[in-house]
Amino acid sequence: MNILVLGSGGREHAITWALAKSPNTDELYVTPGNGGTSGIATNIPGIDITDAEAVLGFAKDRNIDLVVIGPEAPLVVGIADTLREAGFPVFGPGAAGALLEGSKTFSKNFMIENGIPTARFQSFTEAEPAKAYVQEMGAPIVIKADGLAAGKGVFVAETVEEALEAIDACFSGMFGEAGSVVVVEECLQGPECSLLAFVAGGEALCMATAQDHKRAYDGDRGPNTGGMGVYSPVPMVTAEQLETMERIMRESAAASAREPFSSDYRGVLYGGFMLTEDGPKVLEFNARFGDPETQVILPRLETDLVDVMMAVAKGDISDINLSWSDKWAVCVVLASAGYPGAYEKGKVILGIDEAEALEDVTVFHAGTAVNNDGELVTAGGRVLNVVALGDTFEEARELAYRACALINFEGKQLRMDIGKKAADFFGNE
Ligand code: AMP
Ligand code: GLY
Repeated sequence: MNILVLGSGGREHAITWALAKSPNTDELYVTPGNGGTSGIATNIPGIDITDAEAVLGFAKDRNIDLVVIGPEAPLVVGIADTLREAGFPVFGPGAAGALLEGSKTFSKNFMIENGIPTARFQSFTEAEPAKAYVQEMGAPIVIKADGLAAGKGVFVAETVEEALEAIDACFSGMFGEAGSVVVVEECLQGPECSLLAFVAGGEALCMATAQDHKRAYDGDRGPNTGGMGVYSPVPMVTAEQLETMERIMRESAAASAREPFSSDYRGVLYGGFMLTEDGPKVLEFNARFGDPETQVILPRLETDLVDVMMAVAKGDISDINLSWSDKWAVCVVLASAGYPGAYEKGKVILGIDEAEALEDVTVFHAGTAVNNDGELVTAGGRVLNVVALGDTFEEARELAYRACALINFEGKQLRMDIGKKAADFFGNE
């Protein structure tokens, strides 16, 4: 089977790595890809992955049997619709389904209409009424740009002043169109947990739980990032909480197939949950695999990913059973100095081979490239995802940090407390 993956991050490297392991894979292309995917697949630079005709042209040219869409931007503009209309099996929802991520207001209304527990909210197109609502609700309170903002459009405001500033920031145009509608929502408390599911034909096959670390610095301080580390599964989740989250994912999948949504959703639905005292509530839906969640989920998936993705793309997952390794997975992100703010690129990266020589360590590339001298260099804010598997959580965590210590590039930035909450949980048991 000839497969095309769209995207260039750690998530896409992990997806490509899992597809490359399958005996069903013949040619594997990634556009644009990164310094990691180039070693296991053919990178195709120069295609704008939000340009439907360009992607379609390539798919026709290379006899592609399956297109896998990694990031949200091509989903939201409907690349999957164009490819499907032309007869290509696609893993990833069309534009209608991707609205669950592309518009927070749409997504919140979907939740409310389908009885899915979520934070109370209101949407605004102007600053003054949004500010009045904040004054009425008080702090802490959460302000969100409605559209796509690469994980950076959410402000958890501890004070009313911070919330008012965040509203001004959104309406100032810093997120472009994405900030022209602002969601103000109740601040929920509790541990967070992601639960992703393969969705097709109105059914959901849930994956393993994972916990991301979105803030830039240790102790969950600093600005929100795309994610600085993650582990799977999440030991703090009780059987009852897991059951509730799985039920919510199944109900959401069913609702996505029903009137009035009728989206024929085929891809991953990502549920971001807060485990509140009143039970799990949905913070957000994403229409794709999480990044970096994928980097700890796929190494634990024992089922052939090509079979799963093809079934999803064809709209029928009733014959698929997912099987998971018993191992724990911990991923630590190595980022460029300054991320999520401005950062420099082009720093030479050393030590990946040494890290991967450790048994049960895999390094997924997020923002890397090969320069004109053939050297692997940094090319993004999040540079590498160092993933370790272990028979115990502590083993996986210790191994991940041992591997991180072997890798160097100028300005290497990482959190030293990835998985600390799970480690404390085991310590306190
Ligand atoms: P999102 O992009 O919607 O996942 O939000 C990013 C992060 O902001 C989440 O992972 C939470 O840590 C936080 N967050 C979002 N919504 C809320 C909320 N209603 N209450 C508390 N924290 C939130
Ligand atoms: N890790 C969070 C996300 O992918 O949205």
